[in-house]
Formats: sequence, structure tokens, C-alpha cells
Amino acid sequence: MFPNLTVLAHPLIQHKLTKLRNRTTATRDFKALVNEISTLMAYEATADLPLEPTTVETPLETTAGMRVAGKKLALIPILRAGLGMVDGIVQLIPSARVGHIGLYRDHDTLEPVHYYFKIPGDEEDRLFFVLDPMLATGGSAVQAMSALKQVGARRIRFLCIVAAPEGIKRMLDHHPDVRVFAAALDRELSSSGYILPGLGDAGDRLFGTR
Ligand code: PRP
Ligand code: URA
Repeated sequence: MFPNLTVLAHPLIQHKLTKLRNRTTATRDFKALVNEISTLMAYEATADLPLEPTTVETPLETTAGMRVAGKKLALIPILRAGLGMVDGIVQLIPSARVGHIGLYRDHDTLEPVHYYFKIPGDEEDRLFFVLDPMLATGGSAVQAMSALKQVGARRIRFLCIVAAPEGIKRMLDHHPDVRVFAAALDRELSSSGYILPGLGDAGDRLFGTR
């Protein structure tokens, strides 16, 4: 339905996502699940990374090997909730650089408000993975992509856990070159901008705020 979207149907991701949605899941478990899902999503979202040949010395002889080509990957969590996805991915890709984009949604207009931007250099040559568990109206993600592109980023992927069709469509309209990876494509947005069925406010559930 959406050419920019890949829904990751791996059984472990879907099992953990169902636990994440559960309203009785406590903050501590919520955090652990977001990390675990992020690790599994990153594994899938990096499956097509280009490799280059290298050599390696084993204890016995020199042999041919492979390494991921190009500059180190950059993980860019959108504050706050994107922070919850970083550790799980760093476990898999310890050399990844980490930048931050600060955005929050105005409660009345649902428009993103920008407050922080700090990312690793060499933007033109780097692959960026922007992280945010929730893609709702798409306002925050679209603005984050625009900010990255403005400083020269050319290769960007977006990893979210739950996406609304409205957000995917907005990403497609504004940034058709950005592949979106999600654990679920949910039904719709509520009149107040929450994803249905969703999992509630990801930032509040991660950090125990309300
Ligand atoms: C949430 C979420 C996304 C944004 C998604 O953040 O983490 O960043 O909303 O909504 P959108 O697609 O309609 O822009 P929130 O604004 O609640 O900020 P917080 O993480 O600081 O609480
Ligand atoms: N942000 C969230 O944290 N949850 C939603 O359902 C929508 C936006």
C-alpha cells in the first residue's frame, strides 16, 4: 500500500510488540521491550548494507573477510521517546555514532516544535537511522528528515515501532526517498492525534511521566 514502508513481521518483534501495547506493562518492562524490539528491527533494517572485502589474520593464517562499507552509521533518536531505542541498537552496532534531534508536539496544534539539533559530521557520506517509536501525524518525522537533509544528509532511514497511515503518507509526500521500517501499521489516528490502537504516549510510558 505504501512503497516507502516495510513492516517487520518477525514473530519475536510481533510477540514483544503485543506486550508493549498492553496497558498494564510497567515502565521497567516497557523500556526493556522497546530496546529488544529496536535490536531486532535494526537487524532487519541493516540486511542490505553494502559490504567491502578486507583481510583478517586468524591465529593460523591470513584470510579474506568482509566489513560494512563506508562511514560509521549514525543513530539519531528524536527526543524524548527515540532515546529508548538507542541502547538496543548500540548493542548490535557498537561503533555507531549517536546524534540527537529535539522535537515535541504542541498539544493543541499537533505541530512539532524544534528545540535541539546535534549530529555527527560527514553528513554526506553517512547512513542515518532516525529513531522514534511513534509515527503519528508524521509532523515530527518530516521535520527531522528536513533538518538532516538541510545539513547535507543524503541517506536516511526511519525506524519506528508503531506507525499510523497518516504519518506514512506524510513521509511519502515529503520524503519519498526515506525508507520507513515499522513493527506495525496501525488503523488510524484519534481526533487528538493518538495512534489507534497504538500503545499510548511512548515518552510517558518510557520515562514514567504523565
Ligand atoms: C511523540 C513521539 C513522536 C511524536 C509523533 O513525541 O515520540 O516524536 O510524538 O507524533 P507526530 O507524528 O504527530 O509528530 P512527543 O511530542 O510526545 O514528545 P516527547 O517524546 O518529548 O514526549
Ligand atoms: N505520540 C505518542 O507517544 N503516541 C501516540 O499515539 C501518538 C504520538
